[in-house]
Amino acid sequence: MASSPIEEIKNRLDIAEVVGEYVQLQKAGANFRALCPFHAEKSPSFFVSPVRQSWHCFGGCGEGGDIFKFIMKVEGVEFGDALRLLAKKAGVELPQRDPRSAQWETERKRLLEILERACLFFEKQLAASLAGQEVQKYLKERGVQEESTAKWRLGYAPDSQLGLHDFLVQSGYRSSEIGRAGLLTRSGQDTFDRFRGRIIFPVFDLNSQVAGFGGRVFGRKEGEDLAKYVNTSSTPVYDKGRILYGLDKAKLAIRRQDFVILVEGYMDAILMAQAGWENVVATSGTALTENHLLVLKRYASNLYAAFDRDEAGEEATKRGIELALQQGFQVRVVAMPAGKDPADTVLENPEMVGKLVEQSQSVFDFFFEQALSRHHKTTPEGKRAIGEALLPVIRKIPNSIERAHWIQRLARELDVKEEDVQEELLKIKAGPSAIAIAQRKAVLPKTRNELLEERALSLLFRVPEVLGELQEPHLQWFSIRSREILAGMAKNPSLEFSLLEQSFPADTVEFLRCLAMTGEMEEEAGDAREEFLMCVAELKEIAVRFRLDEIAKEIQKAEEARNGERVRELAELFSELSRQLQLS
Ligand code: UTP
Ligand code: MN
Repeated sequence: MASSPIEEIKNRLDIAEVVGEYVQLQKAGANFRALCPFHAEKSPSFFVSPVRQSWHCFGGCGEGGDIFKFIMKVEGVEFGDALRLLAKKAGVELPQRDPRSAQWETERKRLLEILERACLFFEKQLAASLAGQEVQKYLKERGVQEESTAKWRLGYAPDSQLGLHDFLVQSGYRSSEIGRAGLLTRSGQDTFDRFRGRIIFPVFDLNSQVAGFGGRVFGRKEGEDLAKYVNTSSTPVYDKGRILYGLDKAKLAIRRQDFVILVEGYMDAILMAQAGWENVVATSGTALTENHLLVLKRYASNLYAAFDRDEAGEEATKRGIELALQQGFQVRVVAMPAGKDPADTVLENPEMVGKLVEQSQSVFDFFFEQALSRHHKTTPEGKRAIGEALLPVIRKIPNSIERAHWIQRLARELDVKEEDVQEELLKIKAGPSAIAIAQRKAVLPKTRNELLEERALSLLFRVPEVLGELQEPHLQWFSIRSREILAGMAKNPSLEFSLLEQSFPADTVEFLRCLAMTGEMEEEAGDAREEFLMCVAELKEIAVRFRLDEIAKEIQKAEEARNGERVRELAELFSELSRQLQLS
């Protein structure tokens, strides 16, 4: 009988299954491996161990932990939220607490509750109010079917100063909370509902919980100097640079097909989905960010950007594409007819979108075509302009062979030497991406010593009996930290984690878990005992060589000081140590 809901949840859920909902896992021995969802990488270094009920990234970010930690990180939530989410999945009932002292009542839960209420309020307004009838008519004209209105939970925000606010206050929420949920705005002294007289598009998180809203003007004249769309700004539950509209509904299709179609607008996503394109997502009122891409990378490696030809030249579009290339996406462009967005196109002619997707071009072909059609490739100015348009994109291709291909192609098109293209490429200085910087910080390369010590410790999990044989001659070559760990391990020679947890602080336990997993990852275990001793021998060799170097320097100094006695002493020590090296 499990002692706590936490244990109970861990017992009932299979960590691989839970993690597998977010990343594509491949079997690797007793474990699973995947591309790490927490940093950009090209080869999978993220491991999940069902036996240990834990996960770990051996690549850039070095993160790891249990099922709760995973949900906290991947969903960006607090422990209480992860607990509730997993409890629901596991069918474990959490003890009810007094609402005021509720241990698991986090602010986030409160805000999500408010947002859900608000969403219901907007839906009701759409269904029942007079103005709502008008909106329904409009949606119908735009081609949105009733099932889609229900599926995307479209709504209407009445055009009153505080209609929603007052409704929520009556339901027992405080103005301050309503504000933190992103539902209020200020103008001078006055407070207003943020969404007034607008068609409401709820924006859902990955679990289809309402996290924020987009609102499109309605009724009032669009020229009235109103923003066409108003979106939730940043709140504790809504990060526009991370959330993707429609991803909760599209994620499985995206994973299955390994490709995602990226559009710009709420309407585009809804109408595309309605026409049977299940793998469509939109950014909500912001340019594509690295965080959006990190989220998408969990589901697909092919990204199709759908926009009309005029937008392609825009800086924001290019920037988004560069970011995607940098993260190793295969990027293709689905070019919409001039002046039309996917919503218009799919409504006019649903088959057309299928053709456009089929005819999609690699982003490089697309940019080449564009640049060559805009500038004369025969004039020097034209050549320069074409270079300036294409080189920043080419520069972002992570794969050198692929990059070389496009450099060659550009040189050929412009009829210049490849070296000249290369030279210009080097001149473009764009700072490294945020991700590159973060990764650089995360990957402090380990020293040979650290690697050897870690290897030795991890081998002990395979042959714990060796612990009993360890003596000072072995131990002296380890760092102080490792010696402490070895001593603690020797006290619990079974190496059961339930015991180790009592001897070590949490971060050390985490470190040991990951060492234990490394050992298990190997499909073929050689002679672990022998390898352990080899690691110790090598550690010794490094230490001795280091000492020899020092002695050599001291000898030189003593010679300079003409201290014959000291030189003889040191020389003896030197030869003694060298002999030891040869023996081992
Ligand atoms: P569009 O102006 O193309 O909107 O902006 P749309 O989705 O096609 O809407 P319809 O077809 O006119 O009804 C594309 C996206 O850019 C964001 C919204 O997310 C919108 O869906 N946007 C646009 C804003 O956030 N604010 C704006 O003022 C305009
Ligand atoms: Mn539109």
